[in-house]
Amino acid sequence: MTKRVFSGVQPTGNIHIGNYLGALTQFVRLQDGNECVYCIVDMHAITLPKAPEELRDNILDVAALYIAVGIDPARSIVFVQSDVPGHAELAWILMCNSYTGELSRMTQFKDKSRGNESAPTGLFAYPVLMAADILLYDSDIVPVGNDQKQHIELTRDIAIRVNNKYGSDTFVVPEGRFLKEGARIMSLDDPAAKMSKSAANSLSRISLLDDASKIKKAIMRAATDSDGEIRFDPENKPGISNLLTIYSVFAGTPLADLEKTYAGQGYGTLKKDLVDVVTDALTPIKQSYEEVRHSEELLRILKDGAERANAISEQTLKRVKERFGLGSR
Ligand code: TYM
Repeated sequence: MTKRVFSGVQPTGNIHIGNYLGALTQFVRLQDGNECVYCIVDMHAITLPKAPEELRDNILDVAALYIAVGIDPARSIVFVQSDVPGHAELAWILMCNSYTGELSRMTQFKDKSRGNESAPTGLFAYPVLMAADILLYDSDIVPVGNDQKQHIELTRDIAIRVNNKYGSDTFVVPEGRFLKEGARIMSLDDPAAKMSKSAANSLSRISLLDDASKIKKAIMRAATDSDGEIRFDPENKPGISNLLTIYSVFAGTPLADLEKTYAGQGYGTLKKDLVDVVTDALTPIKQSYEEVRHSEELLRILKDGAERANAISEQTLKRVKERFGLGSR
C-alpha cells in the first residue's frame, strides 16, 4: 500500500542548508512510491510577531523553494496551511486532548518563551497545531530534522490517546523519518548550536539563496579547532565534523572517504573544496527558484494544492467529528 507522507516548513525567511539537508532532500526522495503532502505552515509562523508583507513574501519564497529543490506538484500536494481551515479546527479538538503538563515540557517552547511572562498562547499550543497538520492527512511518515523529534513523539501520544478513547481507527499513528547524516546541521560560527533561521549572525548559516561570496565567507570563517587533524568526531571536533557532514551529504561521498582524501591536509584546503561543493549544489536551486518565484504557475500550484488538501482534510474531520459527537448531524 502506498504510504502518505506529510511535512512542513515555516515561512520565516532564510531557509538554510540545515533545512535542506535534514528535511527537503527527504521530501524529494520520498516522492517515489509515496503520496506526499508538503505544507507551508504560515499559522505556525505567526506564533511570534511577523510583519504581514514579509510573511506573504516568505510564504511564496518557501513555495518556490519547494519546487526549485525538486518537489513535483504533479505528484505531490503543495499548499499553504491557512488555505485549509481544517488545520485550526482539528488543532482545537486535539487541544482538548493534550495536557498543559506535556506541552510545558517541550524544549522548543521552553527556549522560545524563556524569561517571557507574556509568551503568546499560540507558542504554547504550537506542537498541537503541528499534530493536527500531521493527523489531518492520515500521515504514515513525517520526514523532519532531529529538532522535531519531541513534537513527533507528542503527536503520536495524542493520536494513541484519542484512539484509545474514541476508536482505534480515529487517527493513523505516524512515524518520524530522520536521516542518519544531515538531521542536525550545526551553526558555522558555533558548532554547539544548531544552524537556525533566526540566529543574529548571518554567517552562522548558509541560506539556499545566498550568493557565492557569502557562501565562501561563511565557510572560510567557520569555527574549527586548533589540532589541525581532519577527522569525523562530533564530540571532540564538532566544527570539522559539521563541515565534513555538510560535504558528505552534498557531494554524496561517505565520511570515511573524505577522511582519507583529506588526511594530512590543512583545514583551508577542506574549506576551499567545500565552498565549491556547496556553491555547485545551490546554483541550480537558485536558478529554478528565480524562474518560478514570480510566476503565475506558482499561484496555480498553491491553489490546486489547497483544493486537494482540503478534500482530504474534510474527510478526516468528518470522521473525527462523528467520533466525538460534534455538530448537529
Ligand atoms: P522549521 O521550519 O523550523 O524547519 C523545517 C525543517 O528543517 C529541519 N531543520 C533542520 N534539519 C537539520 N539541521 C538543522 N539545523 C535544522 N533546522 C531545521 C526541521 O527539523 C524541519 O524538518 N515545526 C516545524 C514545522 C512543522 C511541521 C509540521 C513539520 C509544522 N507542522 C508537521 C512536520 C510536520 C518547524 O518549525 O520546522
